[in-house]
Amino acid sequence: MKFFIDTADIDEIKDLAATGLVDGVTTNPSLVAQSGRDFFEVIKEIAGVVDGPVSAETVATDHETMLKEGLKLAKLADNITVKVPLTVDGLKTCKALSDDGIKVNVTLCFSAGQALLAAKAGAAFISPFVGRLDDIGFDGLDLIAEICTIYGNYDFDTEVLVASVRGPLHVIDAAKMGADVATVPPKVLRQLYNHPLTDKGLDAFLKDWAATGQTIL
Ligand code: G3P
Repeated sequence: MKFFIDTADIDEIKDLAATGLVDGVTTNPSLVAQSGRDFFEVIKEIAGVVDGPVSAETVATDHETMLKEGLKLAKLADNITVKVPLTVDGLKTCKALSDDGIKVNVTLCFSAGQALLAAKAGAAFISPFVGRLDDIGFDGLDLIAEICTIYGNYDFDTEVLVASVRGPLHVIDAAKMGADVATVPPKVLRQLYNHPLTDKGLDAFLKDWAATGQTIL
């Protein structure tokens, strides 16, 4: 499973990229607003820090303008993935950009039928929002399972990018289902490292080692 970081906070991205575990970055208009930065500047900076795909989202709602925005965003760096919403205009734009060789991430997916359409439109990534489905009383992970099954049945190349991740269990359960990517808030990636028994075990090892009076270096 690939890990993308779901943020436009460049300091967080740099810090986590140093672990070597970051395969890409996703942003959205809300995350860019939270960063307080100029959209184009922050996207270019992120694309320079991470080798993998960096999703930059369009904001137009009509196909013609969305396509222009997508073409402009794609020129910002070689590793830009254009993000479009799962609407009729979004899928038309996805098809046009994909036919042009530009990677597209179709976002705001909440049903398996929508995911099927995105794959047919040539999306490089589909972003089902698990947390937002959980929020309204549906099991977001059921959607991931459905999409993985459907894409597997037809050998679609579209990668399942689990979005709106709220905690480590979303990542672990989606990984069991074979989802290709999880885009995680920085906090969740850090939570994945942690286990109290790791901390407790390390404390004990270090105490015992100190008692030997030896050093390795
Ligand atoms: O970037 C899309 C998605 O990951 C947003 O997550 O937490 O705003 O539902 P959230």
